[in-house]
Amino acid sequence: MTYLQGRFFTYRLITVTLIAFVLVLVAGQTLPVRAQEVTPDIEEISDQLDVPFVPSHADVLRTMFELTKAKKDDYVVDLGSGDGRIVIAAAKWLGAQGFGVDLNAKLVAIANKRAQRQGVADRAKFYVRNLFDTDFSKATLVTMYLLPEIVLQLRPKLMAALKPGTRIASHDYHLGDWRPDHMRVVDSGGEERSIVYAWTVPAKVAGNWTWDVAYSRYFNGVAPMRAEIEQRYQDLSGGMIGQGGFVPIRTGMVSGTKVSFSVTSEIDDVVVDQTYVGTISGNEINGTVHLSGSVKPVEIPWRATRRPVGR
Ligand SMILES: C[S@@+](CC[C@H](N)C(=O)[O-])C[C@H]1O[C@@H](n2cnc3c(N)ncnc32)[C@H](O)[C@@H]1O
Repeated sequence: MTYLQGRFFTYRLITVTLIAFVLVLVAGQTLPVRAQEVTPDIEEISDQLDVPFVPSHADVLRTMFELTKAKKDDYVVDLGSGDGRIVIAAAKWLGAQGFGVDLNAKLVAIANKRAQRQGVADRAKFYVRNLFDTDFSKATLVTMYLLPEIVLQLRPKLMAALKPGTRIASHDYHLGDWRPDHMRVVDSGGEERSIVYAWTVPAKVAGNWTWDVAYSRYFNGVAPMRAEIEQRYQDLSGGMIGQGGFVPIRTGMVSGTKVSFSVTSEIDDVVVDQTYVGTISGNEINGTVHLSGSVKPVEIPWRATRRPVGR
């Protein structure tokens, strides 16, 4: 076993032990834990690598696809594709297409052969390439099963390169302080446990936004609104500055391009609960605002514009 393989299995052992510990606490019983099943031929290849190849179990693949709602029109990129099983499964099970990259030429050759044998070579392609030098901006779904520090190094690249709405699924290792949207413990063969994490790349919503809310049926005319929105991954915070002064925004979220938040603020001396839901495109959000509280509940159109940075 090489140094990196040793580290990989150590990380895995720590993760699995932690999960087992939590499950023991919850279930009050001991869970047997054993190492990932590795067939002799794979072990032989893996032994010759600087970076270990440990294949994901089919149930991990299914869970990755389920949590990310993977579908036929997805473009799947597996970073560190090993024997190609993730992209091949996406092509066979879902009819999707994509590619995988791996540093190891032998594994890439095996992956391309497997894709050919399984009749999906036109939709599942594999390249010898360092994942850090790979342009994956075309992806709508990125998958990975890598070492924890590699996953963390990748995070800024994923955030910068991927389109809002692109999903990411990671086997066993999370993206640090980027809270996953989904997480599931999976039986990955025998008594083995894996964790699958999933995220959706959020659009950039931070900035100064203004809009008018016209509800002349309830108030006199149009109320100008201004919000300063701060963003940490998919979580939005900040506040609205209106007639009653600063009010914090609540439950602010962005999932892909879908933005939502709530505020309670004074408008024409009336306290109004406002729930905004919309789709962001560039410096514009279009959607609806639901008003309630001291007014008869009503939903009206909402169009906000962001002041371009620097103005
Ligand atoms: C744990 S295996 C996962 C294989 C496959 N994705 C799966 O889930 O079954 C990790 C793979 O990543 C590859 N790898 C590690 N670092 C890489 C890098 N910087 N660029 C490309 N491939 C890399 C290794 O060669 C290995 O095949």
